[in-house]
Amino acid sequence: MGKVYYISKNVGLAMFVLAFCALATIIALSIAYNNERVKNRSRPGGGATDNTSLPTPPTTPFTPKEPWDHYRLPDTLVPVSYNVTLWPRLEPNADGLYIFTGRSAVIFKCVKETDLIIIHSNKLNLTGQHARLGGLGDVSAPAVRKTWFVVKTEFLVLQLHSRLSAGATYVLHTEFQGELADDLEGFYRSEYIEAGVKRVVATSQMQATYARKSFPCFDEPAMKAVFNVTIIHDRSRVALSNGMAIDAADSVIDGIPVRVTTFEPTERMSTYLLAFIVSDFVSIQSNLNNNLLIRIWARKSAIDDGQGDYALNVTGPILQFYEHYYNATYPLSKSDQIALPDFNAGAMENWGLITYRETALLYNPIVSSTGNKERILTVIAHELAHMWFGNLVTLRWWNDLWLNEGFASYVEYLGANHAEPTWNMKDQIILSDVHKVFQVDALASSHPLSRREEEVNDPSQISEMFNTISYSKGAAVLRMLSEFLTEPVFARGLSSYLNTFAFSNTVYTDLWDHLQEAVENTPGFHIPATVHDIMNRWTLQMGFPVVTIDTRTGSITQKHFLVDPESVVERPSQFNYTWFVPIKWKKTGVEQQQYWLLQKTDTNRLMKVSGNDWVLANTNVSGYFRVNYDLDNWDRLLSSLSTNHQALSVINRAQIIDDAFNLARAKIVSTTLALTTTKYLHKERDYIPWESALANLNYYILMFDRTEVYGALQAYLKKQIQPLYEHFKTTTANWTKIPTGHTDQYNQINAIWVACSVGVGECRELIKRWYREWMANPSHNPIHPNLKNTVYCSAIAYGGVEEWDFAWTMFKNSTLASEASRLRSAMSCAKAPWLLNRYLEYTLDPTKIRKQDATSTIQYISNNVVGMPLAWNFIRANWSYIYKQYGTGSFSFSNLINGITRRFSTEFELQELKKFKEDNLHVGFGSATLALEQAIEKTTANIRWVAENKAHVLQWFTDESK
Ligand SMILES: *[C@@H]1O[C@H](CO)[C@@H](O)[C@H](O)[C@H]1NC(C)=O
Ligand SMILES: *[C@@H]1O[C@H](CO)[C@@H](O)[C@H](O)[C@H]1NC(C)=O
Ligand SMILES: *[C@@H]1O[C@H](CO)[C@@H](O)[C@H](O)[C@H]1NC(C)=O
Ligand SMILES: *[C@@H]1O[C@H](CO)[C@@H](O)[C@H](O)[C@H]1NC(C)=O
Ligand SMILES: [Zn+2]
Repeated sequence: MGKVYYISKNVGLAMFVLAFCALATIIALSIAYNNERVKNRSRPGGGATDNTSLPTPPTTPFTPKEPWDHYRLPDTLVPVSYNVTLWPRLEPNADGLYIFTGRSAVIFKCVKETDLIIIHSNKLNLTGQHARLGGLGDVSAPAVRKTWFVVKTEFLVLQLHSRLSAGATYVLHTEFQGELADDLEGFYRSEYIEAGVKRVVATSQMQATYARKSFPCFDEPAMKAVFNVTIIHDRSRVALSNGMAIDAADSVIDGIPVRVTTFEPTERMSTYLLAFIVSDFVSIQSNLNNNLLIRIWARKSAIDDGQGDYALNVTGPILQFYEHYYNATYPLSKSDQIALPDFNAGAMENWGLITYRETALLYNPIVSSTGNKERILTVIAHELAHMWFGNLVTLRWWNDLWLNEGFASYVEYLGANHAEPTWNMKDQIILSDVHKVFQVDALASSHPLSRREEEVNDPSQISEMFNTISYSKGAAVLRMLSEFLTEPVFARGLSSYLNTFAFSNTVYTDLWDHLQEAVENTPGFHIPATVHDIMNRWTLQMGFPVVTIDTRTGSITQKHFLVDPESVVERPSQFNYTWFVPIKWKKTGVEQQQYWLLQKTDTNRLMKVSGNDWVLANTNVSGYFRVNYDLDNWDRLLSSLSTNHQALSVINRAQIIDDAFNLARAKIVSTTLALTTTKYLHKERDYIPWESALANLNYYILMFDRTEVYGALQAYLKKQIQPLYEHFKTTTANWTKIPTGHTDQYNQINAIWVACSVGVGECRELIKRWYREWMANPSHNPIHPNLKNTVYCSAIAYGGVEEWDFAWTMFKNSTLASEASRLRSAMSCAKAPWLLNRYLEYTLDPTKIRKQDATSTIQYISNNVVGMPLAWNFIRANWSYIYKQYGTGSFSFSNLINGITRRFSTEFELQELKKFKEDNLHVGFGSATLALEQAIEKTTANIRWVAENKAHVLQWFTDESK
């Protein structure tokens, strides 16, 4: 799956928060609001009449006795191929229910004698002749004694009168009916309005455990089979699936005129990669190498408007890049990509039919920003990478998900870089993945990338695997691996892995084996240990090291980096939290070198320097670790930054800032040292260092924007941002042009955003003027797409109900998803509590805020210093409802908890959090369970940090802003 937690490149908006006064009033209001909520029993999830709360679970743990009580399939049967026929009804039936009917025949082989057939099936009702068993060839099938469903483990069970024989092949026929619900899971219904008319689409999302909601199937990734898909649908619509349609015949069934579309048999594939779509969408297409059909599908108006063109333009080059990189041709006969109005993840890599949120596929040069465009590029590159890695070769079980997602999250930058070579895409992984996941992985509550197969069983444990660690740490360690193996060796090993295991399944060590083989087959190439031994230390233990280099002696040590030095690591590690660390480094006047730290401490005489010379380690952040130095070397690096920052690469400037701030939080260096890394910023014009600094200062803002420190902090930032603001004002001819460089465009946004929020001269006036011009003439928006997030948010923050209501109207009328999405985010910037509370209420009403957007809207509101307490009360009041709606989803749910608790830094807030946990134990936290633990840990650390740092941070900002 793609990353739904993707952070907008217009980062100011997502991460940078404005401070407001009148805090006392706000708190009083929010308490009143809370009481109101408690009294209100009629709303879903509002209180006692809510039927979603479950009884307290029994105290004795459940021990499965029968084979169908286990979540995993028994090892008795393996599927060979399926016939699946589905008929979704896009009109409600007499009971007002949208349904689909279907028929399936699965041919399976018995590998161990058994008198049970256990096959996944969830929320399906058997119809017609129910389940019938037959033998294939000469085999005769035993009679069925009893058939039943097991709701908890999502199985259909057939008990037979006698045993199936090992080696024999059988066929199981089922006829069934399911609901085509708008629940975004399995075969589901998506609705949208076009030209004033409501339209219905039937579409699907199978990953991870929802194929079983579409038809009875052996729904585990290793149960690969061939699927012969047939879809019955209205003649005015088009049906799509993984394979190419080979026949479409008109027919009349039950008196209804229909079209029966038959698809070519798929390759051997996993159930979670299936896709079935019936829509009235249209497509544009091209041919790659004259034989591969590439199509982009979307609503007709979007395609007519040219919004699929960018996706079509980049898909061919990206596929070509991967064919070359993997040294394997694209495995299928076509590549369809489709933009859906209702979609939970960012995108889903169904084999041959990739599904996207509209914002992740559709681009309109008039209204989309550079950030939107980059997102489209990287999401496409991510999903296409899976066509080989993940789809052609699939991990055996979900415990290895990190390898699948980490891999795609790494190579997406390579694919994107190939399609847009001037964008510096390869640098961006530092901000978007490496620095980001460092935050999470520096907690004692983190977890290793790799989990044992037995630890991941039920659907919510599987969902929980879709987290930042899997995606971003996976990407970071695979990038490190590729860096120390060098790309040619890495790519050779990869290609041999893909070719060996095509159409089958692996465990992660299979990849290590093939990489090791590539190492051994490369003359003259050495690494100090095997790929297994090196990588085990990064995948089997959580966290990462901080490497400390003492340039006075050349001594090097490593230590598990924990952002809270007082946190206690309870999880044991067989490697005692030491790593084999590949360190690329350089010193003044000397080219980059490679050094391996294999013990806890070591000495490298080359790293001993004196005078004005400095040592810089982890160049280009090619390794997944932080670096600390003796104070003299820090001083020399800092003075090099202030005298000639361009002597260090953009990435390393960003890294120095990020390492220093995080080392300071861990009390390894002083807060003053960290803040000092930002003193040169008035000279910095590049995006990546600025972004790194703003992301780190954001912690200070979150901790202090409700205190007196904020005034001094604002004054300091104003001093530092002013030259950048002036720089862009000049280079854009007084804001009439847009910078040409890709990342310069991002930095222009930062400049305006920060300048406005810290009160630089005319910034707010400029923004208000632009927004007012738009309000005066809604059909002509004068604001450049890049600046829209910033301008909308600021205009709403400094405006009133008129600005808000205008945004709402434009949001409801918007035909472009990315525009709707930025308005939705900007409306959370309001200052007035009543506006924010009204907006929170809207998230419970799917006619106002789409279900797929509800949790992120609540999260946006919580980013706002005024909205945070309101959002917190809101989710507490509505927890069981929210949980029921979103609790088993993947990222969005844990992001909600992360978002709301980001500012928590008082004892009172910690108590509230703990109470929230206790009060809702009976409801549960689903895929946010880990996030909640992390929130408690982070709050504890914040409390301590604020107590220790507030006074001298205030002092520093006061002194430096003079
Ligand atoms: C699906 O089609 C393939 C190829 O025509 C065939 O070999 C296979 O038996 C079919 N599967 C079923 C369940 O009939
Ligand atoms: C699958 O469908 C094909 C084509 O309709 C049919 O010939 C075949 O018998 C079906 N397979 C089974 C096992 O029913
Ligand atoms: C399945 O059966 C249950 C129980 O009879 C019924 O409530 C439900 O509506 C049925 N679902 C469909 C899609 O027919
Ligand atoms: C797609 O490519 C064509 C041909 O190179 C170009 O004219 C067009 O501007 C591109 N469209 C987008 C949206 O990039
Ligand atoms: Zn993915």
